[in-house]
Amino acid sequence: MNVLLIGSGGREHALAWKISRSPLLKNFYAIPGSSGISDFAQCVENISVDDNAAIVNFAKSNAIDLVVVGPEAPLVNGLVDELSTAGIKAFGCNKAAAQIEGSKIFAKRLMKKYNIPTAEFEVFDNVDDAKKYIREKNAPIVIKADGLAAGKGVIVAQTLEEALNAVDEMKNFGAAGSKIVVEEFMDGEEASVLSLTDGKKIIPLVAAQDHKRVNDGDQGLNTGGMGAYAPAPIVDEKISKLVEDTILKPTIASLKAEGITYRGCLYAGLMIVDGVPKVVEFNARFGDPETQVVLPLLEDDLLKLMDECATGNLTTDKLSWLNQSAVCVIMASGGYPKSYKKNLPIDGIGKAKSLGALVFHAGTKISDGELVTNGGRVLGVTMTAPTLREAVDKVYRCVEVINFDNVHYRRDIAARALK
Ligand code: AMP
Ligand code: GLY
Repeated sequence: MNVLLIGSGGREHALAWKISRSPLLKNFYAIPGSSGISDFAQCVENISVDDNAAIVNFAKSNAIDLVVVGPEAPLVNGLVDELSTAGIKAFGCNKAAAQIEGSKIFAKRLMKKYNIPTAEFEVFDNVDDAKKYIREKNAPIVIKADGLAAGKGVIVAQTLEEALNAVDEMKNFGAAGSKIVVEEFMDGEEASVLSLTDGKKIIPLVAAQDHKRVNDGDQGLNTGGMGAYAPAPIVDEKISKLVEDTILKPTIASLKAEGITYRGCLYAGLMIVDGVPKVVEFNARFGDPETQVVLPLLEDDLLKLMDECATGNLTTDKLSWLNQSAVCVIMASGGYPKSYKKNLPIDGIGKAKSLGALVFHAGTKISDGELVTNGGRVLGVTMTAPTLREAVDKVYRCVEVINFDNVHYRRDIAARALK
């Protein structure tokens, strides 16, 4: 198969790594790709991921059999719909389905209508009403911008004052903040369950846990994700079954009832509250950095699975997993998720790889022949090992041999699961 991957982040690097291991793969391209993805695919940097027409043309001219869409923006932007009109198969959901991530209000209303467990909520389009409601409910309480805000449009307010300020801050998220969701605070432990669906059947991948806050001990601002591990022991057999029966299957069915066929990856961000999984959010794509720990454990051919999802004919019922644990530590630019420096030389990746790490590039580029930092999240370093303890010890040994100025990473990835 000729495959075109859309995206450039750590998640897409992990997807490229896994796809490249498929015996079905013939030619492999990426738009725009990255200095990491270029190990596996020919990167086409002069086409933008927002340019649906150019992507369709590229796919046609290069006899692409399957387009794999990594990030949410092209999904929300209808790329898969345009590819489909042109007769090109894609792994990723259509524009209508992508609302499940693109609009928190769409997702919350869907869950409410079809009794899918989630936090209670109200939607506001004006600041005064939102504040009045917040005063009635009191803190802790959660304030969210409606649209895509790169994972940063959510404020979990511990005090009433913080909550009221959060409503004012929503203006900073531009269009994404013009409608506000105010939500009940769920007290529990988070987990991410990514799943593959052909629109009828839905198969969960092994559960992962992300670390969204920038600092150790879950302190500081929310980020895109500072590290992850899998499998997440919090999602035991009983909870897995509840996730499938009360969340994943009903979500695909309820979308269907609304006239929407969802194909691709459905990511359920969960809060496990007293043994009951509830939805924090849905994403219409693989998680980042969850993908960097889930795919290294998957034994099946991902390309075959994706192709079957895209065709609407997923033949597999159960996936095979390595009996191991995986841990990914994100190495970020100091300052992230606020402002940070770029173009800082990165050393030691070769050494880390020789120690057995998978090093996924999230924000790097080649400048004058040298690998330099080019984003907030720079690298994701993943290790797999027979136990989580070993995976954690090994991953930090690898992280320590990689260096760039002002590097920041959390030292407590997976610590909770080790307790
Ligand atoms: P979201 O973008 O909706 O996933 O929210 C980002 C993060 O905010 C989540 O990963 C949670 O840590 C936290 N969060 C969001 N909604 C809630 C909630 N209702 N209760 C508690 N924490 C939440
Ligand atoms: N790891 C969080 C996300 O992918 O949205």
